[in-house]
Amino acid sequence: MESVNKPDSHLPAAIRAVLFDAYGTLFDVYSVGLAAEQLFPGHGQALGILWRDKQIEYTRLVTTSNGGAHYQPLWDLTRAALRYACKRLALALTAAREESLMNQYRHLSAFPENREVLQALKARGIVTGILSNGDPAMLAVAVKSAGLEGLLDHVISVDGIRKYKTDPAAYALGPQATGLPARQIAFVSCNSWDALAATWYGYQTLWVNRYQLPFEELGTQPDYSGSTLRDVLSLPGLGAPA
Ligand code: LAC
Repeated sequence: MESVNKPDSHLPAAIRAVLFDAYGTLFDVYSVGLAAEQLFPGHGQALGILWRDKQIEYTRLVTTSNGGAHYQPLWDLTRAALRYACKRLALALTAAREESLMNQYRHLSAFPENREVLQALKARGIVTGILSNGDPAMLAVAVKSAGLEGLLDHVISVDGIRKYKTDPAAYALGPQATGLPARQIAFVSCNSWDALAATWYGYQTLWVNRYQLPFEELGTQPDYSGSTLRDVLSLPGLGAPA
């Protein structure tokens, strides 16, 4: 793990809680590409990427337009994004194919190191949770499928406020749920835009760069970057393992 922009002269605040983004961070959104490839040979990867990008775009569209009047839960935006992506790629999305792909999305693969990282954090007395754009039903199924129940103290969905990340009200749910200031919470995301906005909000941030991508070019860096969730366990604010 590398430290990116830690102030030289002060130690980071002690971390009391770690909140994880869900989609792309704990759950592999690109694992649907395999199922997509079977349905649409030669197009699975392109569909997986466009589907994800459009889903995120829709979250921003409904959050920033007309005071949120067009909000829909992430499950519905995910379905809309799939329909758009198939039209854009000229792929025939029958009702059966749509259900098949949505069902894959419901049961995304979890990254393999999730459990051990959460177990290690719990063993160190750290509060754990998810802070996600996912709606509560989606998150509950994903957490259960991944066997992460019991390892998460909080599963926080933006659905209650009907505003998606990167709206600051969405990031504010972390301090509200834990009762801790943002600087005592590490926010972990594989999505660079999410790590960036969480840094702007005031969390200590770890960007897990699974795909060796460049970080956003907007002048702010995450506090730390790494390549797997295991890097969470080396955050200086956690102190030495007991
Ligand atoms: C989430 C999406 C944005 O879980 O990855 O919030």
